[in-house]
Amino acid sequence: WKATASVAAVLTAWVLFSLLDSLVFQRPWNLARGPMMPKLARDVLRVGVLAGTVLVAATAILDQPLPAVLVSSTVLSAVVGLALQDVLKNVFAGMALELEKPFDRGEWLLLDGQPAQVLETSWRSVKLRTLEGLDVYEPNATFSGARLTNLGSGARPMALTFRVGVSYEAPPARVKEALLRAARAAPGGLESPAPQAIVESYGDSAILYRLRVWTRQVGELGRFQDAVNSRVWYELKRQGLTIPFPIRTVMLRHVEEEAGRDQAAFRERATALLADLPLFRDLAPDASRQLAAAARHQHYDHGEVLVREGERGDSLFVIDQGRVVITKSGAMVGTGTIDLASLGPGGFFGEMSLLTGEPRSATVTADGPVEVLVLPREALAPLLAADPGMAEQLSAAVIERQAEVRARLDRRERQRTVEEIQAESSLLERIRSFFKLPG
Ligand code: CMP
Repeated sequence: WKATASVAAVLTAWVLFSLLDSLVFQRPWNLARGPMMPKLARDVLRVGVLAGTVLVAATAILDQPLPAVLVSSTVLSAVVGLALQDVLKNVFAGMALELEKPFDRGEWLLLDGQPAQVLETSWRSVKLRTLEGLDVYEPNATFSGARLTNLGSGARPMALTFRVGVSYEAPPARVKEALLRAARAAPGGLESPAPQAIVESYGDSAILYRLRVWTRQVGELGRFQDAVNSRVWYELKRQGLTIPFPIRTVMLRHVEEEAGRDQAAFRERATALLADLPLFRDLAPDASRQLAAAARHQHYDHGEVLVREGERGDSLFVIDQGRVVITKSGAMVGTGTIDLASLGPGGFFGEMSLLTGEPRSATVTADGPVEVLVLPREALAPLLAADPGMAEQLSAAVIERQAEVRARLDRRERQRTVEEIQAESSLLERIRSFFKLPG
């Protein structure tokens, strides 16, 4: 019967509290302010009353010793407290909000910079409705830990600030008068407190004015902003005052035309360069222009290889600017590389492979930044066919260069020491091993 009596006591407490709650606590304090006691306070009180009844029932009816009940309830609270840390944080923050009352139901708060109206507060969160009609449940702890901006409910006026730039030509007194007239005419604006207009600063293209207008339309700030801004425009327009805007100079480029111009300039330059070369000096102007049109202009950085020994190649290079060095690997004579020549502007290379079809006979490397004209075999072939003199000149160059290469290689060969040749052929070793001489 003791257990039944305890349960009955707790249920009785529950029922009595509910009666008190609905008959007294939820009664409106006054019609404007809603119920006498907020929901959060009622909920906390309910939990307190029930906990007290349980405590009394445990000690008085069930005859449990008070310290044991208190200790077990303390341990239980610690466990529950840890598990419900976040929830409790919100509950206590909610209680602090109830005590401080930084906002009331129906008031507008700034939530992430956007206005939202408070609908309801509870033990865990505050329910707000945004201008887009979205319901947001903001945890109580957020409000206790951050700055809160309360716009009010419209009962007290609040001001919006507008910044307007007006021409340097307009006297500030006239502009301020026009701005104030526009503010007073804007729907939703208040006569008192009166709007204010001041010169804020001198901007790049306009004098900047600050207009402060008061309103009670807290829930429709966007519309109010629109109203004031629009009225300002019309009023300034009527007064002949201009709102300047930065002027931008737009340069129009005709890309195709420019590309055509660049190409024509390059062709002219290539024609002049080719005409200066002894190789093409006897070319007819038409043929020279044709050759220039087929040429490609290429840039190379210092150290870049333009032509690599042993590779196939079918183009002739003419140096426009910079220098190149021509080297040949000395593999055939067992040495490193041999420097053959260094060519500057107007020099040409690559004619050997072009004419003979053989692999490149040497490596050509840029010595500093180099610009070259590259003439493909297809462009040269008709000229060679038409002008036997050119073929002769080219073949003379080839013969001369081949002779030069051979001479260089011979010279290098002769320079090799007896030791070098011996080391290479291991002649001494072979003699020693043949006569079984000690090493
Ligand atoms: P090609 O063999 O096509 O590629 C390497 C080029 O180096 C070669 O043509 C010649 O134009 C050039 N060349 C080779 N030997 C010499 C040299 N002794 N003097 C100048 N240029 C050379």
